[in-house]
Amino acid sequence: MFEVLPQLAPDPILGLSAAYKQDSNPSKIDLGVGVYKDEQGNTPILSAVAKAQQVLLERETSKTYITPQGVQGFIDGMLQLILGAQSPVLLADRVAAVQAPGGCGSLRILSELLTRVNADTKVWVSDPTWANHIPLIGNAGLTIETYPYFDKASASIRFDAMMECLRQVKKGDVVLLHGCCHNPTGADLTKAQWQEVMNVAKEREFLPFVDIAYQGFGDSLEDDAYGVRLLCENLPEVIIAASCSKNFGLYRERVGLAAIVCADSNTRKIAQGQIQSVARGIYSMPPSYGGALVDIILSDDALKQEWVNEVDEMRVRMRTLRELLVNKLAEYGAQKDFSFVNDQKGMFSFLCITPEQVQKMRNEHSVYFVDSSRVNVAGISLANVDTLAKAMVKVINA
Ligand code: LMR
Repeated sequence: MFEVLPQLAPDPILGLSAAYKQDSNPSKIDLGVGVYKDEQGNTPILSAVAKAQQVLLERETSKTYITPQGVQGFIDGMLQLILGAQSPVLLADRVAAVQAPGGCGSLRILSELLTRVNADTKVWVSDPTWANHIPLIGNAGLTIETYPYFDKASASIRFDAMMECLRQVKKGDVVLLHGCCHNPTGADLTKAQWQEVMNVAKEREFLPFVDIAYQGFGDSLEDDAYGVRLLCENLPEVIIAASCSKNFGLYRERVGLAAIVCADSNTRKIAQGQIQSVARGIYSMPPSYGGALVDIILSDDALKQEWVNEVDEMRVRMRTLRELLVNKLAEYGAQKDFSFVNDQKGMFSFLCITPEQVQKMRNEHSVYFVDSSRVNVAGISLANVDTLAKAMVKVINA
């Protein structure tokens, strides 16, 4: 019966890994999927995570179901990490939350919850946004619209155009915002711009939907939460999808958090029951393992500090690699000024080159990255940066 379905093209991001694996060029470079890599190109288990695994091995005595909301220590730890330990919305008991299978799982169940509220809800996403936002939100039945966000020609945020659009958004609409380290552009709002977004959300009464998947990769774990905290402290309702894939390096364990900041504590009870019922109807309850590890790390001061240091190390390394690439491009005579790459934050950089140039990088130089010109900065290394910069200069100056 499945022959009636069309054969699909490979996923625009995950498909790159398969193509890279098949390439026999020994100098090939993988800057595709957003996974942190060290100088050797490996994605090691963080040392805090490895220690937590040992603790869990000794502590876990059963594989019976966990509670429908997930590991409570994980939920509490993550909420404090994202919102701050003294967050007024936490103190006022206004936050419903569940552990979810990854940031994707969180995005999806929150979208399904929005459908329950109103199947005609419009969700505004940035142009551009992470490719998988579209199916995750759209397949829940919601209507997707875009707001202007990034200008490739000037490699900067189109903030005036974004605000002009947000000022037209209707009450009850939802606006998806990247908490930090915007995927794919690496271009983040300033604190002053977050303030303006918060003001317009208050005025227009739209619901901010914050996707925070890279906390700690921008400026610091605290600074990267500035926007989401500002919204939560000043608006009646905000929804949040968080991921532990990147900052805890728990990609394959699929661990994330879906949180709903409600207008009051009574509504929190309604939202808690509803989000659990949405999850029950899709995957019943989240897997326990990744959340149990994060719980162990966040509830042990020494282990938490070790993890914070590891996050800092990953962030500093990615920032250094940006600078290295920018310097090499200038050194090899690129006719385009790439210094804007140094202002971008997190794991991704948007090189602002054409899809044809991206194809040439792939086909003629075995350098793999997303057609939009998004590169995974962590895939750059001291060993490959010269090859990469020379190839880019060839393609760009042609
Ligand atoms: C990415 O953007 O590359 C990552 O979030 C991995 C994915 O699932 O697309």
